[in-house]
Amino acid sequence: MGSTEVTLCGVRLDNPVIPASGTFGFGYEFAELYDINCLGSISFKGTTIEPRFGNPTPRIAECEAGMLNSVGLQNPGAEKVLTEELPRLKKVFKKPLMANVSGFSVKDYTAAVEILDREDAIGWFEINISCPNVHGGGLAFGTSCENAAAVTAAVKKVTKKPVLIKLSPNVTDITEIAKACEAAGADGLSLINTLLGMRIDLKTKKPVLANKAGGFSGPAIKPVAVRMVYQVYEAVKIPIVGMGGISTAEDVIEMMLAGASAVEVGAANLAEPFACKNIIEDLPRVMQKYGIDNLKDITGGAHNG
Ligand code: FUM
Repeated sequence: MGSTEVTLCGVRLDNPVIPASGTFGFGYEFAELYDINCLGSISFKGTTIEPRFGNPTPRIAECEAGMLNSVGLQNPGAEKVLTEELPRLKKVFKKPLMANVSGFSVKDYTAAVEILDREDAIGWFEINISCPNVHGGGLAFGTSCENAAAVTAAVKKVTKKPVLIKLSPNVTDITEIAKACEAAGADGLSLINTLLGMRIDLKTKKPVLANKAGGFSGPAIKPVAVRMVYQVYEAVKIPIVGMGGISTAEDVIEMMLAGASAVEVGAANLAEPFACKNIIEDLPRVMQKYGIDNLKDITGGAHNG
């Protein structure tokens, strides 16, 4: 049987499959369904320095081949995540975790990272500069090279753990933001976050989401994500976590050929709670089908020759 092992910023993973932040809670809920230690890692619920209730409802709208969300970073705040959520998760998951952090100012990001940095089980920080659902934060940092670099440099100063920056597709040229983050010291990049979208209810003749617009994810965005991972792979030297519409083992391989060292699975978890487990179990079969012995060797394979 081939090897599914990969490395991300020097940290080893049994396989490249990571549930994406915001689609897997703090993980322990899923441990009631199956042994979540089969996962490569978990990117847990986006955490901010202060607790957040999130946006008004409705926050979810179904779409063809995907979904819209405008959750608004609901979470209990960094201190409670550290002292209440992570101890619960650590009881059932024994691998390095990915801490997804959001903020409304550079100080917000660094303050939350400083708190979570006390947890040894955190293997990487994933700094979300791409949430489309909040005003004055998130995307405001991810659409400007200068702001993206400022957050990256500030976070790098307060932790020794690898820092990945989560990028938005809602920009003219994602490679410019990627290069700015790399130059500011990012250890890796994760992409793509959701695409800004909207649905209108024909009966009310108003937007379905209370927040009007939301982030579009699911199978329909996969070709956009593959294209952006491919472009960013050519623009930077740091590793990439690829995401956007992944729901099968074939999708994992496609994303890795484009340039990803690991992948995140998002919307698929909401439709099928066993999605990540199913993908991981199917990987050896698909690897064999396509003549792949070591998954780590295929990263960027679509660029060769
Ligand atoms: O609204 C949300 O909590 C989503 C966050 C994100 O897409 O980064």
